[in-house]
Amino acid sequence: MSRANGVSRLLTLATLVPALAACGAGDSEGGPEAGSAAPGATAVATSDPGDGMTRRAGAAEPVYGFGTPATAAQIAAWDIDIGPDGAGLPPGQGTVAEGLEVWERHRCILCHGPTGREGPNDLLTGRIPGDEFPFANDRSLRSTVGNYWPYATTLFDYTRRAMPFDLPGTMTDEEVYAVVGAMLYFNDLLPADAVVDSATVVDTRMPARDRFVPDNRTGGPTIR
Ligand code: HEC
Repeated sequence: MSRANGVSRLLTLATLVPALAACGAGDSEGGPEAGSAAPGATAVATSDPGDGMTRRAGAAEPVYGFGTPATAAQIAAWDIDIGPDGAGLPPGQGTVAEGLEVWERHRCILCHGPTGREGPNDLLTGRIPGDEFPFANDRSLRSTVGNYWPYATTLFDYTRRAMPFDLPGTMTDEEVYAVVGAMLYFNDLLPADAVVDSATVVDTRMPARDRFVPDNRTGGPTIR
């Protein structure tokens, strides 16, 4: 038995023993007497609701005995998602020209190439003639920001939370605005002299914008 298993079995026993004491009181049929089954039981009544947690009698929340409540500032640091409509976009701005500098400074260029077309990692640049969307018929097509992403707001969100791949979270919001501008510029969606702020990101109409529908199914056989 691994050490971890042994520990978790001990924990389970520790949880169950007081539970037996609580439930077994007055139950003389069959099982061992409450007193002998739970020599370590304390006066605090506990119950095991079946989810592996221990609840003190009268306590609304399970008691783990460790951790502290997250502060508002800690929650805010993680609460960075941006809606397709731009809800949650931070203040700040950048330019496409600055974005091209960020592209080198934050090493996007090493993994995505000088214009987002050269790899070695994901292809980011490229439009399909007429902005068609033949992905279902041509399985060899590679998706890019220009031919597949429906919202530039999502591009901001993704880039800020996930890139650079090996050092996410190291860009300022201004740098993210700028480098998002560079990617939109590579895809002919912004001019070289564009200033990029929250309004630009919301207003940039992505070619694949209408190629997706909201999936608001909540259940039933169609959910896989
Ligand atoms: C060390 C290599 C590396 C660096 C540096 C890097 N990326 Fe990436 N990037 C990746 C990899 C790998 C993926 C695919 C991640 C995945 O699919 O989970 C990716 C995915 C992306 C995507 C999503 C592509 C898609 O269509 O799914 C974008 C956008 C992107 N990177 C932008 C950037 C930007 C902007 C920078 C610079 C700030 C950057 N990357 C730096 C490796 C890198």
